[in-house]
Amino acid sequence: MELTYRPRRLRRTPALRALVRETCLAPTDFIYPLFVHEGAGNEPIGAMPGAQRWSLEGLIDEVGRAWDLGIRCVVLFPKVADGLKTEDGAECFNEHGLIPRAIRRLKEVHPGMAIMTDVALDPYSCDGHDGLVSDEGIVLNDETVAILCKQAVAQARAGADLIGPSDMMDGRVGAIREALDEEGFEHVGIISYTAKYASAYYGPFREALDSAPRAAAGKPIPKDKSTYQMDPANAREAITEAQLDEQEGSDILMVKPGLAYLDIIHRLRGETELPIAAYNVSGEYAMVKAAAQNGWIDERAVVLETLLSFRRAGADLILTYHACDAAAWLKQG
Ligand code: PBG
Repeated sequence: MELTYRPRRLRRTPALRALVRETCLAPTDFIYPLFVHEGAGNEPIGAMPGAQRWSLEGLIDEVGRAWDLGIRCVVLFPKVADGLKTEDGAECFNEHGLIPRAIRRLKEVHPGMAIMTDVALDPYSCDGHDGLVSDEGIVLNDETVAILCKQAVAQARAGADLIGPSDMMDGRVGAIREALDEEGFEHVGIISYTAKYASAYYGPFREALDSAPRAAAGKPIPKDKSTYQMDPANAREAITEAQLDEQEGSDILMVKPGLAYLDIIHRLRGETELPIAAYNVSGEYAMVKAAAQNGWIDERAVVLETLLSFRRAGADLILTYHACDAAAWLKQG
């Protein structure tokens, strides 16, 4: 054949392929999510092989391991004891609660590691919702935002670098920004869960924290989060959410889940100059682990390809439970 263009010329050797590679992955692109509990030991999580509910001491060691692998940011999620869960989730702003204590300890031992937190009531609420549930079974917006502001301030006071509102209440980014500024935390950033979908992919996470919506005596509890998290059918709405979060002062916009929503990452990339984060969520992790354990896929290849796809779609950073494994594989080259 007499072909002018032969795209295979640039695929012929590893050196040539590396030369024209458009996207790269580095451990500094990752945020490593970690679960912490009050217990003395670390507890495995059934649907998330390799992940643990860490004790405070276990957490410190694991963060050290992540640091040595080149990871520079972690996000913390608490497994709160049942006895501390209430309808108003007030434990979330206890300055001596599990998360503030974990942040303080981590900052002592690993001062260079950036710490992101999660702002939402679900781990602290006996109803298992991200906001307050009224007697009529409505998840209240403005009343919830007032509590989330206190939670964010408690986290900032403990030393958090990035506050991550994951609740999807309207107006919470602006309110949290104002609350942080009023308390002298104008240097603390907000990474908002901007386009967070009402997804079935969060199942293993809710198992890890025992945080799923649960029935209560005396009031109807919504079974899912579809009155505040986004409808999986909607894409344009993600742009509206992004515009609002940006106007309200968010520093980084997140899309969640990641893999089934790569189109949303791509669309937002065209709409904003802010950094974009993708959350490679628990259900995505569980599927890869299950298939790998059965010998049905090559875990390393699948994970690195998946993480690269988030970057190719337009994400700058990736929250992923694979962070340490991926960082180690990248190091091996
Ligand atoms: C809580 C929260 C959830 C996740 C992060 N923060 C669960 C939910 O909204 O029900 C999910 C993370 C994952 O599945 O990995 N607001």
